[in-house]
Amino acid sequence: MKPNKISYFLALHREQDWAKAAAACDVSALELLKAVANAESEHGCALVKAGSPFQGFTVEGKKVIAQAQQLSNAMASLEQCFTASRRKRMVAPLLDRRSVSPKRLYAPAPDAEAIELMTAAALSAPDHGGLHPWRIIAFGTDQRDALAHLFEQEKRRRDPLASRDDIQRAREHATRSPALLAFVVSLKVKTQVPAREQLLAAGAALGNFMNAAHQLGFGAISLSGERCFDPIFSAQLGLTSSEYLACFISLGSITEPPAPKSKVAPSAVMSRWIPCSTAIQQPI
Ligand SMILES: Cc1cc2nc3c(=O)[nH]c(=O)nc-3n(C[C@H](O)[C@H](O)[C@H](O)COP(=O)(O)O)c2cc1C
Repeated sequence: MKPNKISYFLALHREQDWAKAAAACDVSALELLKAVANAESEHGCALVKAGSPFQGFTVEGKKVIAQAQQLSNAMASLEQCFTASRRKRMVAPLLDRRSVSPKRLYAPAPDAEAIELMTAAALSAPDHGGLHPWRIIAFGTDQRDALAHLFEQEKRRRDPLASRDDIQRAREHATRSPALLAFVVSLKVKTQVPAREQLLAAGAALGNFMNAAHQLGFGAISLSGERCFDPIFSAQLGLTSSEYLACFISLGSITEPPAPKSKVAPSAVMSRWIPCSTAIQQPI
């Protein structure tokens, strides 16, 4: 019996009525009657008791229904398996993303078109009021030495006793990554949108940026470090008083995918609301 015929029998069993079963199967009552008659001649015996309205199934018909239900349940669980694996595949690029240390980022850096796509992804993040309360500063390869000088100055301000190696390491943070960007949170003041929502929007944008980099096959990492908290350094990068330097984004090619991250179960961060009557304050 073909799968659609099985569903006809199951609908008839469920509805116990020819017209309702036909409607449930989106066919006319005549088509349903014909399909049942065909199945009966295929089987060589009556499956539905004669008479109108619907009189129920014969003993043979009840056996067919039992088999059909088993088959239908098996098909449903197979469909569930397919759906679950399709969903996992769909979110796999988000689940797989890992940060890649600048030490494991190599040339070539993502080109301007790839960085523009990452930025477009960042601009697609949830953002109350569409304020995009963030911006990105790109440092060209010809600007890295000048940036390294600022990194060195900041290191000397923070640690006047810094060794030659310390200074070298600070400078390398500006020069090592094949591509380097600064991610600036740029809170808008003339708006009703609360600062905390703007912060979340900026975080969501950064997340989208990192995910897009991963999807495009590049390695990426966001790193702040103490220099991002230095007001002189921020001013040297051109930040205003309503902005702050969230992090630097290092980007580059990777030779092998980063090791998978140990997963936190969604249940660790998801709970069902428990109404708490004592929390409801009565007006005094
Ligand atoms: C804004 C921002 C700044 C960060 N700064 C640092 C940092 O200075 N040092 C650090 O070890 N990780 C920092 N992280 C975390 C790493 O970027 C990374 O997310 C973390 O190591 C977890 O790795 P994963 O992205 O593979 O899960 C920062 C993340 C964000 C979003």
